[in-house]
Amino acid sequence: MILITGGSGFIGSSITDALLKADYEVKVIDNLSTGRIENLDNAINNKNFKFIKGDIRNFNAHDLEDVEVIFHEAAQIDVRKSVSDPGYDLDVNVAGTINILENMRKSDVKKIIYASSGGAIYGNPGYLPCNEKHPTDPISPYGASKLAAEKYIRIYHETYGIDYVNLRYANVYGPRQDPLGEAGVIAIFLNRVLDNKKPVIFGNGKQTRDYVHVYDVVEANLLAINKLNNDNFNVGTGIETSVKELIEIISELLNKDVKAEYAEERKGEVQRIALDVSKIKNFGFKPGYDLREGMRNVLEWMNGKA
Ligand SMILES: NC(=O)c1ccc[n+]([C@@H]2O[C@H](COP(=O)([O-])OP(=O)(O)OC[C@H]3O[C@@H](n4cnc5c(N)ncnc54)[C@H](O)[C@@H]3O)[C@@H](O)[C@H]2O)c1
Repeated sequence: MILITGGSGFIGSSITDALLKADYEVKVIDNLSTGRIENLDNAINNKNFKFIKGDIRNFNAHDLEDVEVIFHEAAQIDVRKSVSDPGYDLDVNVAGTINILENMRKSDVKKIIYASSGGAIYGNPGYLPCNEKHPTDPISPYGASKLAAEKYIRIYHETYGIDYVNLRYANVYGPRQDPLGEAGVIAIFLNRVLDNKKPVIFGNGKQTRDYVHVYDVVEANLLAINKLNNDNFNVGTGIETSVKELIEIISELLNKDVKAEYAEERKGEVQRIALDVSKIKNFGFKPGYDLREGMRNVLEWMNGKA
């Protein structure tokens, strides 16, 4: 059986669907703080699926009975919230992860596959694209807590022999991302434009990100079950796209001259980032979506077609 923490969230629910499709037994633990139970509509009636409403800071060894692998997706994911309330971010992202690891060492769970953040842990890059050897120097409490959790996971491997894979995601986008949330610029922009509102660019719009489709992130997670072990892997595309370019792509996709509003740049966010994904590609990872195609897929989902 596989346990997915945060399995009713954007990425966790997509992993859940893929694992059930591959005939795994799946159990989700989620406190529904940002996740939505509707994200599990495809899973809920599957006989191999179980949902537990619970918090990663409280659960215990009993919840790990029969579990072999944990996908750890639950987290406080909002960079701005981590700046305004670093204690809460630390509690969920670090103490929550330690609670999982403490319970793992008392149980038979063999492996943890952790959703780390390549977009946040490297900080402002010294070179691009960043490979896994790039120094880690986060500039937000969120980046610091995601990195600290990675370190604890490696320490539990060294100390107790728990296997791990730290997957360092780039900026993930795709169906189910909350368009009203604080993170997920593609979902937020598309939703505003469809609502005939102007997308808001924080800063000058020249800041770049590496946008990876959620279905490619799911593939990386499936690969991590048997093909990756005890190491850190970037998961992205290696391609930098600026916020302004996103607006151009949206204009093109909707055949509309989309104009943005500008607002003051936000604290804790890096200026440029892209991830070198050669390492995981050597193990068979093939990102399948280019950005235009992926954004079209999100539009179809928003229009209720996907
Ligand atoms: N979305 C991205 O671009 C991105 C990039 C890098 C890393 N990540 C990481 O991927 C993971 C999933 O992110 P997402 O984008 O799907 O966000 P999300 O908010 O949709 O998913 C997080 C899930 O965790 C749950 N959760 C939060 N705190 C919890 C707690 N204390 N106990 C139990 N459940 C809790 C939420 O209810 C939600 O379902 C996170 O660990 C995030 O840091 C995401």
